[in-house]
Amino acid sequence: MIFAHRGSSGTHPENTMLAFEKAKNAGADGLEIDVQLSNDGEIVIAHDEKLDRTTNGKGYIKDCSLQKIKTYNASHKFVEQYGKTEIPTLKELFDWLGGNDLLCNIELKNSVFRYPGMEEKVIRLIKSNMLEERVILSSFNHYSLVQCLQIAPELETAPLYRDGLFRPWVYAAQIGARAIHPNINVASDYVINSAIRAGIKVRPYTINSKASMEHLFQIGCSAIITDFPEKAIRIRQQN
Ligand code: G3P
Ligand code: CA
Repeated sequence: MIFAHRGSSGTHPENTMLAFEKAKNAGADGLEIDVQLSNDGEIVIAHDEKLDRTTNGKGYIKDCSLQKIKTYNASHKFVEQYGKTEIPTLKELFDWLGGNDLLCNIELKNSVFRYPGMEEKVIRLIKSNMLEERVILSSFNHYSLVQCLQIAPELETAPLYRDGLFRPWVYAAQIGARAIHPNINVASDYVINSAIRAGIKVRPYTINSKASMEHLFQIGCSAIITDFPEKAIRIRQQN
């Protein structure tokens, strides 16, 4: 499968409805998105804790109300192409997902700030939208994933990691996760094959080169997470 990393972020403003629409139209199987919490407890889709890199705002998302966050332009680096685009909420994305069949990997960005209550809030929204079968919760904070499974054991979780883990497929099974999301640098063929044999899915990130895409499709990796879903789809068709 092909998951669009922050949407079609290689060509469109990351984590915006523009990037999600583009990924859907390109034929991606799923989205990978990042979530943070505003100071009034709203779940917003943004990679960084701060507004500075991706918008014309400044400061921490956790210090702003949703109303304030909505005034900033999430496509300010692409302003000539796209004009103004808001930071979407998870609720807005879920409303849109109701009209298609994309999968959605929600990365809980709760390693820098712990965001009390984030797990409960995200899971409540998943359930009220009946998206349990279409979401995967991932995080670099593996304690948070265990907490998610305590709240909702039916959900798929996937630990993210960038450094080597010893037998990550065994570790995943021990914490109740059904998948692993390794950085490309630690996603060896041995890890991928061992995990798949053990019934643990593997979705490495961020796979942008033709050679890596071809290789991972050829060895039967479960999915890739890429900034360029359109390119990945072309390559998948040729393999
Ligand atoms: O979920 C895969 C990947 O997005 C994790 O790293 O920094 O791009 O959120 P990052
Ligand atoms: Ca992410």
